[in-house]
Amino acid sequence: MWTRRNVLKTLAAGGGMLAMPAAIREALGAPEPDVEIALTATRGEAPVLSGRATPVWTYSGKVVKGDARSVQSIPGSYLGPIIRVRKGQRVRLVLENGLGEATNIHWHGLHVPDDMDGHPRHTAAPGKRFVYEFEIKDRAGTYFFHPHPHGRTGRQVYFGLAGLFLIHDEEEQAAKLPSGEYDVPLILQDRSFDGENRLVFLSDEGARHGTRGGGMMGGGMMGGGMMGGGMMGGGMMGGDMMGGGMMGGGMMGGGMTDMMTRMMGFLGDRILVNGRPDATLSVATRPYRLRLLNASNARIFKLAWDDGSPLTVIGTDGGLLATPVQRSYVTLAPGERLELWADFSRHAVGTELTMRSLAFAGDTAMGGDMMGGGTMGGGMMGMMMGNQKLPNGAAFPAFKVRVARSEKAPTTLPKRLSTIVRYRPEDAVNYRRPRVFNITMGMMEWGFNGRSFEMEEVADDEIVRLNTSEIWEFANDASMGMMGMMAHPIHIHGLQFQILERSVTRGLREARDSVSAGYVDEGWKDEVFLMPGERAKVLVGFKDYAGLFPYHCHMLEHGDTGLMRNYRVRA
Ligand code: C2O
Ligand code: CU
Repeated sequence: MWTRRNVLKTLAAGGGMLAMPAAIREALGAPEPDVEIALTATRGEAPVLSGRATPVWTYSGKVVKGDARSVQSIPGSYLGPIIRVRKGQRVRLVLENGLGEATNIHWHGLHVPDDMDGHPRHTAAPGKRFVYEFEIKDRAGTYFFHPHPHGRTGRQVYFGLAGLFLIHDEEEQAAKLPSGEYDVPLILQDRSFDGENRLVFLSDEGARHGTRGGGMMGGGMMGGGMMGGGMMGGGMMGGDMMGGGMMGGGMMGGGMTDMMTRMMGFLGDRILVNGRPDATLSVATRPYRLRLLNASNARIFKLAWDDGSPLTVIGTDGGLLATPVQRSYVTLAPGERLELWADFSRHAVGTELTMRSLAFAGDTAMGGDMMGGGTMGGGMMGMMMGNQKLPNGAAFPAFKVRVARSEKAPTTLPKRLSTIVRYRPEDAVNYRRPRVFNITMGMMEWGFNGRSFEMEEVADDEIVRLNTSEIWEFANDASMGMMGMMAHPIHIHGLQFQILERSVTRGLREARDSVSAGYVDEGWKDEVFLMPGERAKVLVGFKDYAGLFPYHCHMLEHGDTGLMRNYRVRA
């Protein structure tokens, strides 16, 4: 049956759409795209540190049809490109896979049909292409695109595949925000390099072992005993014991470290902004729009200006807030975006400011009873992972701003930015009984409600109805597992949601409170960040597209090792 949908599907998968005469396409009811972009994923090299170039994986983008400004590279960066489109446009994005392995692209935050969303079940084999085509239905905002092949997302993003997808609309235009060179993307990442300027990720040896795992984690060493209450009390974690004894020798060798990294998340010790270390942004004495994306695999940022001045937030994952809000710092987990209004007009030319990531209680906690209420700032986990020179929760400078020149420009921050229509909780079909998603850790496997990712699997309690809204509650207090609890930013594909309320387990309040003043829950979100012991209820609406969509943790290693499931929207 050559229904329109069938044809589109077949063509999209085979990339045949391009070869098809426009007349036939029109006859099938598929309008010509307004913008067509070719995106090639390849291996290349980029100057990152001084000396030798760094081997990276990168996208190169080219406008095939439409406004030439639809693709912009980020100057001097192997990240990107920046894709800029307008709401209502029809776009076609042709991914050419020049990597040696399967890849695809997820349009993070966008509301698109399930077969265009970059689900791990839809990939392009090496040397092949995948044609994405959809209408831009989302509001103006800072969206994100990156690969999403199952088990390989962390690796592919790590080596450089990450870009920005910016949408503009009339509402945004009316807000008259700084644009052009005053609209600055800042992609934050942490990376590690070896002595030859190569990016360090999991060793290949470890990757082989890590995928099997089981055996190495058996035995007494990682068993209950070691993590039990008594041992965690006092000085037993001292350097000698962990350094010389347990960490030494074969047991904590490459395979073990890799496996821990795979479970816990990769943390690098260098902070890169737009792919460059020691980033300094040179600005004029006027307002800027700073678009922050945390494209790290597992790094959490707690960002603040070093002079103590507050941050003015104007946007989140799904675009502009209704009105600007102020925070003394902002918390930004992997995959999240925030837009800042930064007015440098009160600084003298020559001033240098630093955006710092402040200390917080870390992303791991052993829970109330075990640790007597305390948390471990990556201590134990860090030692086990072996790669945590800079654990989550450590302070570091993120980037600098140098006020380089004076310039006169209007400096009024708009009072109203956009209209956000709030979902009404009582309209949710499960108002009285929210769907609960417990984050669980079984035998070395992450999951939601005890189930890990299976490519096409959907459980009965993961099926929702098109044209309904629901309350979903994500719970990060369900099970301790043998590694305690970790922070998890939970991302839902295919939609933007609203955060309704949060709560936290008693014993872990302190850890949560070390970052929660930096949450910006006011606007549209596609991720909700949960510290250990935290729960959040979100309002989710299912419109336009039936199908199979993932939801998962955006600590990329967590998603790659099972903290991902599908939900199905049934017509
Ligand atoms: Cu940005 Cu499924 O992820
Ligand atoms: Cu996670």
